[in-house]
Amino acid sequence: MKKITSILVLFFCIQISYTTQASGPVYKDKNAPIESRIKDLVSKMNLDEKILQLNQYTAGLNTNANNIGEAVKAIPAEIGSLIYFSADPVWRNQIQKKAMEESRLGIPILFGFDVIHGYRTVYPISLGQACSWDPALVTEAAAVAAREAKLSGVDWTFSPMIDVARDPRWGRVAEGYGEDPYTNAVFGVATVKGYQGKNLNDPYSVAACLKHFVAYGMSEGGRDYRYSDVSRQSLWETYLVPYEACVKAGAATLMSSFNDISGVPGSANPYTLTEILKKRWKHDGFVVSDWDAINQLINQGVAADRKEAGLKAFTAGVEMDMTDQIYAQNFKQLIAEKKISMAKVDEAVSRVLRVKFRLGLFDKPYSTVVDESQRYLTPESKAIAQRLSAESMVLLKNEKNTLPLNSGVKQIALIGPMATDKENLLGAWSANGKESDVESISEGLNKEFGTSVKINLAKGCGFDGRDESGFAEAIAATQKSDVVLICLGEKRGWSGENASRSSIALPVIQEKLVQELRNTGKPIVLILSNGRPLELVRLEPLADAMVEIWQPGVCGGSALAGILSGRTNPSGKLSMTFPLSTGQIPTYYDMRQSARPTGGQGNYQDIPTEPLYWFGHGLSYTTFTYGTAKLSATKIKKTEKLTVEVEVTNSGNVKGTETVLWYISDPACSISRPMKELKFFEKKELTAGAKTTFKFEIDPMRDLSFVDSDGKHFLETGDFYVLVNKQKVKFEVTE
Ligand code: BGC
Repeated sequence: MKKITSILVLFFCIQISYTTQASGPVYKDKNAPIESRIKDLVSKMNLDEKILQLNQYTAGLNTNANNIGEAVKAIPAEIGSLIYFSADPVWRNQIQKKAMEESRLGIPILFGFDVIHGYRTVYPISLGQACSWDPALVTEAAAVAAREAKLSGVDWTFSPMIDVARDPRWGRVAEGYGEDPYTNAVFGVATVKGYQGKNLNDPYSVAACLKHFVAYGMSEGGRDYRYSDVSRQSLWETYLVPYEACVKAGAATLMSSFNDISGVPGSANPYTLTEILKKRWKHDGFVVSDWDAINQLINQGVAADRKEAGLKAFTAGVEMDMTDQIYAQNFKQLIAEKKISMAKVDEAVSRVLRVKFRLGLFDKPYSTVVDESQRYLTPESKAIAQRLSAESMVLLKNEKNTLPLNSGVKQIALIGPMATDKENLLGAWSANGKESDVESISEGLNKEFGTSVKINLAKGCGFDGRDESGFAEAIAATQKSDVVLICLGEKRGWSGENASRSSIALPVIQEKLVQELRNTGKPIVLILSNGRPLELVRLEPLADAMVEIWQPGVCGGSALAGILSGRTNPSGKLSMTFPLSTGQIPTYYDMRQSARPTGGQGNYQDIPTEPLYWFGHGLSYTTFTYGTAKLSATKIKKTEKLTVEVEVTNSGNVKGTETVLWYISDPACSISRPMKELKFFEKKELTAGAKTTFKFEIDPMRDLSFVDSDGKHFLETGDFYVLVNKQKVKFEVTE
């Protein structure tokens, strides 16, 4: 009886509290369904309030050198969003307070920022992260970035960048997951999951923003902001693939791109923004333009003035204007002229509000303020950074087992502009990363080897220029050492946005340093830190071993030291092909076959056609032996599945980790297909002597079909091949 009474009392209390809340506006009732809250709020908004929701201004010090933003002068309390160049949650809360208390309806502001590869605990650049082939670890890293960002006042990150890119001259290859659509899809989804968590309104979730929609990776000649010729066929089979996967995974928002898509810019493209994204994929979040992308429609030759640019972007499907203030300045007139309907404005506003409601911003608009020591660089976060750095590093070459360094090594010459550098190891777009947080290569080595090995340090040369005055000191340091580690690479500003290069070779001074040190006869280990694949045609023959460490972030020094000492067995494999020379660009693994593939026809006369290292290349300190790949059947119907498996043995002497990459090839189809396409991968650790079976279940519609130039999938009968390691196994698909 007592129990029943308390249940009744509880029920009565809930009723009272619901009635109290329900007496306020529905949009403020946190128990009401989100769609009812949106409808209620939109019905109460006036036109000015609606238009401001569709605009994003900036706040704080702009750290993106490409966009010189103004300091915040008078941020309207009704603004939809701010690009938030600050890490101070107290300051953020003050702005939010203005929105909540000074605006008529109390609509919270959405604070967005570029958190690309970590916030303060900076991880390797995304291109390096993909070389780990460890999406689960990337999810963990993204979750840490989300927590650090959220506790600093960020609700929304402009990431992941999932632009498939095949031209390493383009500086932004650093920001994506390489040349392959499937790899971009897998790592894009992994990152979205890490940012958004199980639920967008979890305390440490931030909203993801897929960018740059779409085909920005097809930047002509690798130059930024240029016209790109993108056929509908390549749009569907290459560039849209990762976007579709990430939209299905629940990514809250997208950013429209700067590039042209064969005459219709990404930021004014109704086919991609409305037909595909909103109608076919049913995305119900919103699209923000890239910085100045609406205004740039004038330069791209599709709008005569700002007003027309705004009209084109909005009607195509861009809901939020990033910084241009074109929507703010022109929409009233466009609506009065009936060029934009109120229904369309309401729909756009609803999309923006939906993301705010989903993030829980109406119910919890303010950031939790905790001390920086609890926010950033916690031991757990650094452990993830350490693992991801180590897993992203790729052992490109290792002649005569130069690595790991053996116990006979008593003195190491540590040479090169990157040896003690910290800033450049952070890479481009390092959010709130600080140089002082970074462990340099030199610090990592000292920690790893302690007093057991003497390190003879000499810079040798700078990143570029012609100053050879440091060569003599570098030669002397090498002569008294057992091995020389030459740390070369690119400055962080050499990749990222607006950082294209006509050549992917390192500056001549760095190559010359290696040639000089080669003359000492000492074993040479090249350590390469860069934001793109490099032209290594002259350096590779001079090196006994080469490790690609990318821009590895805060824990790069000790992650590399672990590989050099043998504490860590390298397991990274390239997510982007290293052409032999710049002239080979574009070279990517899923090219179409030449019409004359034999006899060297159609190749370059003056250079080989094969790249130096294909996508997927990466060595280990152990060897993996592959058994014969076995199919569960050699003939299947279109509706049946097929399993292929291969036994892999660690045939060396140390524990190691192998990633098995499974490809499909369809040599005869109604349209030509890539020579092979990656469809699945799996990574497993094996102790010395151990064996394990890797399996891939082929789902014909998913793995064997092709897409036409309007996104329709077709599955044909005939012969297919599954490729794994060096094997190619045939099977047949029938009706
Ligand atoms: C870049 C975007 C970035 C935005 C905001 C633009 O210049 O292209 O990737 O998210 O600025 O900083």
